[in-house]
Amino acid sequence: MSSIRTIALTSAAAIITLSGAALAADAEREVFGTLEDGTEIEAVLLSNDDGVTARVITLGATLQSLQTPDKRGTVDDIVLGHDTPAEYLATPQYLGATIGRFANRIGDATFSLDGTEYTLEANDGDNHLHGGVTGFDKLVWTITDVSEDDDGAASVTMSLTSPDGAGGYPGTVEASVTYMLDDDGTLTIDHRATTDKTTIINMTNHSYFNLSGHKDMRPIVSHDLMIPASAYTPVDSGLIPTGEIRDVAGTPFDFREPMRIGARLRNGNDEQIMLGLGYDHNFVLDEGDEDMRLAARLTAAVTGRMIEIYTDQPAVQFYSGNFLDGTTPGKGGILYRQGDGLCLEPQVYPDAPNKPDFPSARLEPGEEYVHVMKIKTGVTK
Ligand code: BGC
Repeated sequence: MSSIRTIALTSAAAIITLSGAALAADAEREVFGTLEDGTEIEAVLLSNDDGVTARVITLGATLQSLQTPDKRGTVDDIVLGHDTPAEYLATPQYLGATIGRFANRIGDATFSLDGTEYTLEANDGDNHLHGGVTGFDKLVWTITDVSEDDDGAASVTMSLTSPDGAGGYPGTVEASVTYMLDDDGTLTIDHRATTDKTTIINMTNHSYFNLSGHKDMRPIVSHDLMIPASAYTPVDSGLIPTGEIRDVAGTPFDFREPMRIGARLRNGNDEQIMLGLGYDHNFVLDEGDEDMRLAARLTAAVTGRMIEIYTDQPAVQFYSGNFLDGTTPGKGGILYRQGDGLCLEPQVYPDAPNKPDFPSARLEPGEEYVHVMKIKTGVTK
């Protein structure tokens, strides 16, 4: 990134603009809310000249809102979220959150490293999900940097120390997440971590997208999805991969060409759709540019909105929002019901620590874990 100028963070609610010159993207720091114990939750609003804005809050380093124009220029929010910190703490949906230490499930909430067995919190039946009861999504992150650069991008970095033994995981982990909004409407999310003992890491972002927009929300069954993956990992009844890498050809999991999500979502003859209550599966991305490959393209015909997800990770979890059950009031008091949002979570494969044939999630002292993903926003022609 060229000539980043770092801004001293002094007062909340100050509009941070670096010079009189028109900059393509701005970062504005504001108060989002307060936890019961008095802890202030801050927000940083990144915005560009084209009407794209991303609000990130320190609770869970969460993407609380992502506003984009549709094909008519109408700007609306395309991610689910909450209006208050208390709602984020009360609900189990991980809306927009940074997930860690390990995104997705670990079977029987245990894994071994070099002969030592570690027991994690079982917070999903017998299994461990998304870092446990007090995962990265439930912690308050510290804003360590807010920057704007000469290329017209604005960014915020949030950091966290996860102590040795947190949630059952070994090693003190220093984690950070940087959200950067470009002038072309691409939001880059850069996850990093280091450890002082051999451990496992698998961080991702858990945004639920709905490209119809929040004000006029329609179920995501009418969105079209493309995932360049020739294989996926089938699961058992606890949604733990069986270990098989299955060809998608001829199954409801073939998204290599754009497909209407609803076309095969109700396929009661497909055991895997039945087990997931829809899509809740890990797609193995085809070989491509390992540094940054396309993981998914999502479009909504009605609004013309499109997002593309890019990642340097080997897989993406497509979750069709099956457990949104109408008990979770979202932004503006809107109840989120099944299929009101979908997640596309780049990551290593679920249960990787227990599956030697899956890509490794191991992190050694002296190494740096990096997961860079991009959400490119736009409209289809
Ligand atoms: C998982 C779902 C889980 C959801 C929780 C997703 O990433 O795949 O199975 O219920 O997170 O919000």
